[in-house]
Amino acid sequence: MSQSQIAPDTPSQRTVLAFAITTIARPQEPECETARCIAAATGYRYVPRAHRSLAGIAAAEAADGLIVVGRTALSLWIAGQSLHHHPNMAKLRILALAQGKRDILVDALQIKLGDHVLDCTCGLGADAIVASCVVGPSGRVRALEAAPLLALLVEHGMASYPLADDPDLGLAMRRVEVLNADYADYLRREADNAWDVVYFDPMFDESIAHARGLDLVRCLARPGGPAPADLREARRVARRRVVMKDRRPGRLLARLGFAKVEESRRVCYGVLPA
Ligand SMILES: C[S@@+](CC[C@H](N)C(=O)[O-])C[C@H]1O[C@@H](n2cnc3c(N)ncnc32)[C@H](O)[C@@H]1O
Repeated sequence: MSQSQIAPDTPSQRTVLAFAITTIARPQEPECETARCIAAATGYRYVPRAHRSLAGIAAAEAADGLIVVGRTALSLWIAGQSLHHHPNMAKLRILALAQGKRDILVDALQIKLGDHVLDCTCGLGADAIVASCVVGPSGRVRALEAAPLLALLVEHGMASYPLADDPDLGLAMRRVEVLNADYADYLRREADNAWDVVYFDPMFDESIAHARGLDLVRCLARPGGPAPADLREARRVARRRVVMKDRRPGRLLARLGFAKVEESRRVCYGVLPA
C-alpha cells in the first residue's frame, strides 16, 4: 500500500481512504512550499490548487480526501466536510481551572506543575492541552496518535495556534509533543517508570456520537481500547498511575480492573496503580 492511502485498523468496519495534499485557493509560495515538504515527508501526492475547487481536485485525483495547507495551519477535507484543529473545549476547561474550578480529568490524573504525562490517545488533543497547561513548562506531555492524518493535523495545529490570541494556551499547545505512534508498540519500547501518569481515552462509537466535528475524526481514528497486555505495559511505564476514561457507568473500566475515581453526567475515569 502506498503511503498516500490510509489503512484503517479494522478493514471490516471501514474502507481504505486515498489522500492527496493541496493548498488554499490563492496560495503564496510559503503554502506551496509547506505542501511540498509535507508531501515529501509523508508520501502524500502534492497537487497544485490551480484555481480548482477541492471537490474538483478530489475528483480529478480520485482522492477520498485532501490535506489542505492554509496560511497558518492544515485542514482535512473529506466529501465536502472540513476538519480544522482548534483547542475547542480545552480553552474553556483551562479558563475554568484558572478560576479555581475543578476539571475531573485533572483530578483523576492527579497532576501538578513539573509532572510528565503520557497521553496514549491524542485524538484532537484537547486533554493533552489541558494536561500541558497544568504541568507547565517544567513538565512534559507527549501525545500518541495511531492515525497518521490526525497526528499530522494535530501536530501542525498545536504548533501554529496564534500566540496573540491567548499566549498561555498557545505556549501550552506548542509544548505538547504529538507523535504518530501506536501505544501498543510505544509502551513496549518505553523504560520502566518513564512517565508519572499514563492516560487512555479510547475511541468508542457511542462515546463520540454527540461531539462536534467528530464524523471526520471517526472516519480517520483507530477504534477500540487497550488490551490487558497494553495495560500491563502502561503500569510498568507509569511511576504513579494509569488512568482511563469510559462512558458512564464505566463497564469497560470494571472489565479491565480499574477503580472508578471520578464521574460526570456522561463519562467517568478509572485508575490502576502503577
Ligand atoms: C476518543 S479519541 C481521544 C480524544 C482526546 N482525549 C481528546 O481530548 O481530544 C481516541 C484517539 O485515540 C487514537 N487511538 C486509538 N488506538 C490507538 C493506539 N493503539 N495508539 C495510539 N492512538 C490510538 C484514535 O485514533 C483516536 O484519535
